Amino acid sequence: MSETKCNARHVAIIMDGNGRWAKKRHLPHAIGHQRGVEAVRKVSRAARAMGLEALTLYAFSTENWRRPEDEVSALMGLLKHFIQSDLEEFVRDNVRLKIIGEWRALAPDIVALIDDALERTAANTGCTLVVALNYGSQDEIARAATRAAAKGALSVESIEAELDTAGLPPLDLLIRTSGEVRLSNFLLWQAAYAEMVFVDTLWPDFTPAHLEAALAEFSQRERRYGGR
Ligand code: IPE
Ligand code: IPE
Ligand code: MG
Repeated sequence: MSETKCNARHVAIIMDGNGRWAKKRHLPHAIGHQRGVEAVRKVSRAARAMGLEALTLYAFSTENWRRPEDEVSALMGLLKHFIQSDLEEFVRDNVRLKIIGEWRALAPDIVALIDDALERTAANTGCTLVVALNYGSQDEIARAATRAAAKGALSVESIEAELDTAGLPPLDLLIRTSGEVRLSNFLLWQAAYAEMVFVDTLWPDFTPAHLEAALAEFSQRERRYGGR
């Protein structure tokens, strides 16, 4: 892996294609998700090495509850296992964990694990690993607007200050794997001026080299923000 520092500060990934990865191999969905977690580990380590300030990963959407119960519980099991097994590495590597979405509505054992992980990494100053859990962008915006309205006037700034992502660097690059070209209710507000890269690679096959390639493409883009 190259140690080149990149010019993006905040990258987000819609990690899609675990199901198709498993189906192609006649394996259960859960195995695809398990391999997906391995990709998370490798790609998040690479993001730190490349000097990203924040990496936001879409792990479970507010719509993913529509999936079969056994798939949802396999995903929740993997999430628990991931926090338990990787927390020490985050503490050691100065990674700050942040969760966006309605994660407090998850099962009490997961909420307790997350609370502990957040507390133990809160003072870390390296890369922020943001995991979107029970996250829906429309829900996030509605919650933010409700809070902003309760405090006074509604404005772009007052809503933005209440988003789950408040305090993170602006989103530079949004990547989606698996060939789908849609946002699926992810970071709709934050993506206003983000660059987007869509790749056909299924998430379990996504490597640090794919991340580097997306960042190389990002560095070639001209960002104009509506100006001349
Ligand atoms: C993404 O993979 C992981 C989650 C949504 C949790 P999918 O499970 O959506 O994979 P496909 O889209 O069925 O291939
Ligand atoms: C988006 O993928 C959610 C996550 C990656 C967690 P989905 O697979 O749920 O999206 P759709 O249903 O294809 O739009
Ligand atoms: Mg999918």
